[in-house]
This record gives sequence, structure tokens and C-alpha cells, in this order.
Amino acid sequence: MRRKNALVVGIANQESISASIAMELHANGYNIIPTYLNDKALPFVKEVTDPMGVSDLLPFKVGNDDQLEAIVAYLQAEGLRLDAFVHGIAFASEIKKDLHAVSWQSFKDSTRVSAFSMVEITNKLIAADVFNPSGSILTLSYIGSHMAVEGYNMMGPVKSILEALVRGLASELGAKGIRVNAISPGPVMTRAASGIKGFSNLLDVARRASPLDRTARLEDIGKLAFEVITNPAITGAVYLVDCGSSAMIRVES
Ligand SMILES: NC(=O)c1ccc[n+]([C@@H]2O[C@H](COP(=O)([O-])OP(=O)(O)OC[C@H]3O[C@@H](n4cnc5c(N)ncnc54)[C@H](O)[C@@H]3O)[C@@H](O)[C@H]2O)c1
Repeated sequence: MRRKNALVVGIANQESISASIAMELHANGYNIIPTYLNDKALPFVKEVTDPMGVSDLLPFKVGNDDQLEAIVAYLQAEGLRLDAFVHGIAFASEIKKDLHAVSWQSFKDSTRVSAFSMVEITNKLIAADVFNPSGSILTLSYIGSHMAVEGYNMMGPVKSILEALVRGLASELGAKGIRVNAISPGPVMTRAASGIKGFSNLLDVARRASPLDRTARLEDIGKLAFEVITNPAITGAVYLVDCGSSAMIRVES
């Protein structure tokens, strides 16, 4: 049987959510094609991908069209067609500011990196015809898209945009047999999360709100990602993996 291929954009290090998704895909027989942000990040990304036997890692920073072209050229040269594209990136330069104090430039840049890049990359992959029908696109959202979470500031509206893009792309690409979804994990301490004001408190609040008295672990998230990527009946959806903490209000006595 042909080995499936997954382009994974968003591994920074072993704590990255995209790393857990790549590991789960690899454990299920996928060939992983990872990108890395820059030379500084490369050794940390390799710590994740070396054990998977990955030899080719491709540089990619949102907005660098040459790098995006090079990803497509690599896939074409290697004869690789994608069965999955994992979009696990987010950045907001003014995440620590109150929402009402955020500049348009920062909001615009964050929307491009954290949301619209999924569209830009998808467009290139489809135009180059390197995406297999029955392939799957997966991005990562957060409950801050639906409710104002203290400290999440500008990222809440950006995740709302991301989720709307998931539905729009799913609607358009269904005719090609391509599914588009998001999973929405509860808080996990990662590099990106460490930039959020009060994140340790948020972790604690999420654990206390969970009827399971815990938060989602990287491996929980990887497993749900694999299910959503491979289940042929799921598209246009956003799945929570947060131990129930956003579904209830618990009153401690
Ligand atoms: N950690 C959490 O609590 C949590 C919860 C829900 C959703 N998420 C989402 O999960 C996704 C992955 O984040 P993470 O928590 O694993 O953190 P992470 O820091 O491990 O990953 C973020 C990735 O974004 C990449 N990135 C940032 N700016 C970029 C740019 N300009 N071009 C290309 N790549 C860029 C980084 O290189 C990094 O690989 C994000 O979308 C985040 O919002 C995280």
C-alpha cells in the first residue's frame, strides 16, 4: 500500500502540539514532511523529526513566497502527493496588550500568520495539484474563538476568523474530496502559550473546571487530530479536546 504523506507546518520543539500530531501520524504509517521557521529553530525541530527518520526539512516563514514555492517544488520533484496538511502556527506580536489597545498592523499580521496562511498554503498546494482527493487539512483553534478568555486578548477574534476559514474552505474543497477541520485543545504549556499573560493560571483554572480534574495532554491532542484527519465523514468541524473544561461551570464549595 502507498505510504501516506503529511505536510506539517508548526513544529517548534518537542512540546509543540504539531509535534504530537506528527508523531501520531508517523506512528500510523505517514511519511512526515516538516517545515521549520528558521535556522535557530532547526535543531529543536530535528529532535522531533529525526526519530521519525525524516531527512528533508523545509524552511518556511509565512509571507516568504519563495519558500512556499520551494515546498511545492520539493513535493513535485520527490513525486510526493499529500494526504494531510497540518497547520499548527500562530503568532501575535501584541498578545500581551488589551484587545482595545492592539494596533491594526499587529492584528493584520497576526491574522495572516495564524489564520490566512492556511488559505495561502492550501491554495498553492491545490494549484500545483499535489493534494490527493480524500486528503485532509487540519488546523488548531482555541475556545477563545467563542468566549472572551482573560489574557487571550487579540487571539480570540483571530481564532474566530480561523474557524470561519475552516468552514469556508471545507465548503469549497468538498467537491475535490478534500476535508478541512480544526481541533480546539484546552491549554497546554508550549512555546507559543508561554507568551500569553497568566498562562499558568489559565492551566490551573482549566484543570479545576474539568470534571476529569486534568487538562488535555499532547498525546490526547495527537490522537484526536489523527481521528479527525482520517475520518472520511468529518469536515467543516471544530472539535474540542479540553477535558470538558469549557462545557461547564463548576462551583467549588
Ligand atoms: N498551547 C495551547 O494551549 C494551545 C491551545 C489551543 C490552540 N493552540 C494552537 O496550537 C497551535 C500551535 O501552537 P503551540 O501551542 O503548539 O505552540 P508552538 O510555539 O510550539 O507552535 C507555534 C508554531 O508557530 C510557528 N510560527 C510562528 N510564527 C510563524 C511564522 N511567521 N511563519 C511560520 N511559522 C510561524 C512557530 O515556529 C511554531 O512552530 C497554534 O495555532 C496555537 O494557537 C495552542
